[in-house]
Amino acid sequence: MKLLSYFIVFLLTVFGFISCKSKTDSQTTEQIDRKWWKEAVVYQIYPRSFKDSDGDGIGDLKGILSKLDYIKSLGVDAVWLNPIYSSPNDDNGYDVSDYRNIMKDFGTMSDFDALLKAMHERKIKLVMDIVVNHSSDEHEWFKQSRSSRDNPYRNYYHWWNAEKGKPPYRYSLFDVNHDAWKYDSLTNAYYLHYFSQKQPDLNWENPKLRQEIYDMMKFWAEKGVDGFRLDAFQFAAKDTTFPAFPKGFEKNFVQYYAMGPNLHTYLKEMHTEVFSKYDVMSVAEGAGNTFQDAHDLVDADRNELNMAYAFEAIDIAKPEGYSVLHLKNVFSKWDSAFAEKGWLSVVLANHDQARLVSRFGNDQPEFRDLSSKMLTTFLMSMRGTPYYYYGDELGMTNAGFEKIEDYKDMPTLNEYQNQINIGGDLKKYMELIKFSCRDNGRTGMQWDTTANAGFTTGTPWLKTNKNYVSINVSAQEKDANSCLNYFRKMVKLRKDNEVLVYGQFTSIDKNNPAVFAYTREMKGKKLLVLLNFTNKPAAVNTGVDVNKATLLIGNYTSAPAAENLRPYEALIYEL
Ligand code: GLC
Repeated sequence: MKLLSYFIVFLLTVFGFISCKSKTDSQTTEQIDRKWWKEAVVYQIYPRSFKDSDGDGIGDLKGILSKLDYIKSLGVDAVWLNPIYSSPNDDNGYDVSDYRNIMKDFGTMSDFDALLKAMHERKIKLVMDIVVNHSSDEHEWFKQSRSSRDNPYRNYYHWWNAEKGKPPYRYSLFDVNHDAWKYDSLTNAYYLHYFSQKQPDLNWENPKLRQEIYDMMKFWAEKGVDGFRLDAFQFAAKDTTFPAFPKGFEKNFVQYYAMGPNLHTYLKEMHTEVFSKYDVMSVAEGAGNTFQDAHDLVDADRNELNMAYAFEAIDIAKPEGYSVLHLKNVFSKWDSAFAEKGWLSVVLANHDQARLVSRFGNDQPEFRDLSSKMLTTFLMSMRGTPYYYYGDELGMTNAGFEKIEDYKDMPTLNEYQNQINIGGDLKKYMELIKFSCRDNGRTGMQWDTTANAGFTTGTPWLKTNKNYVSINVSAQEKDANSCLNYFRKMVKLRKDNEVLVYGQFTSIDKNNPAVFAYTREMKGKKLLVLLNFTNKPAAVNTGVDVNKATLLIGNYTSAPAAENLRPYEALIYEL
């Protein structure tokens, strides 16, 4: 079947991870390598959708500023902002036209400076999104580059002169026809774009380009930002002889596109030029194809990155459901591969996915609250740095728009057009995007019961989820048992128990198809985590008498029944 969308591409291209033997666990020994970014909970904000301060329907920096006390109240340590740079917004800011300026919709540089200052006053760190596998075609570099073959910026991008014939096929993730080469008659040449036609790939082989990027990153580091998230960076190093790939390569394009041999050279250089000079953390989107790749990116002695996040777990959720055993195995093997060296990101949702509770929990009224809290318990009790997406603390759900006109996501709309072009099944496609389109996770933050959930006084750029009248911050603030207050408790529990950050992870009752049960252990302290991932009661065999243990947190208001878990029940005991 033709690949339907960006997310589906990732679903179909699950990385071929190598298996890894379990090792002795040195993260838990006395020489713990403590770092703020290991202990932090990162809260991700999609600025377009968080809070609009001027009524234009688009969230902005002043809006975020006005909500800093809320963010602080969550107990999180850092905020990762999706791109806020000047952009024509073909891909909502992932197409940057000026890396040193703020997108007009979001405000000005002085708004940014005020925001950063106010965040630091509250001891909240800021992580910037760095989009440098590609720029916008409206960036000055690209305008210059396409203007003539001998322009000094020509080599900032990848060009293929048409006299050589058509370049070997490259799959594009976002293009209507999935063709990553776009012909440009101005210089009779094709340029490469792994994403949309308006996102030409930058040529990292050009040292001048690399230096421009490092200088730009230093510009933000000098302002005092605390970290960088490298967008799609594993695609930056390519084989620029552009050999033909075997037929069907696009089903596993990561293997062909990602982690070119020069990638580590670039990262080491970036480390020397930028990371080593500032107190900043670094995390890459994508962790390569194997555990070895992931280690090569993040092992401290290699001086490249601090963390990377992989898609294997994120990609497990499918419209037809997912296997809890699969999820357990993926998380367990990643933990064991990083038990001795390196550090993980723990993530199940972000701006490229539909909502956490709709994909991994259950968004039906009966179970939404419970399953959302269960997932929060899970993300906050694993080893690794949790990344938590705005609105998930309320248990916000998929919007599930019925009409294509309600969707705004460029790759989704392009794929819709592609389905028309190839005579695809549009009904099936609409069903699929109702579950998986990333717009589901981009609706306005649900603050209160006023129009548009208090996100904007204008017309929101994306329709507000109708359920804001019942699911919103204001209502949840008043309810001691709300998802929001549970999230706060769970963040606090993590902060108060170092064992949840650094402690050894051991999966128990491994073959239990419904319950993910594990212990976290460090310096004589041992916590037991029990999570029923299903909507049915489920028994778990913990091998201990939980009645003698101290219950630290649970997502039901009534007392638990020993090892018989209720639907989506989550419990953490101290043994
Ligand atoms: C990354 C971003 C995604 C964006 C793409 C192209 O995957 O997370 O939102 O569309 O890169 O920049």
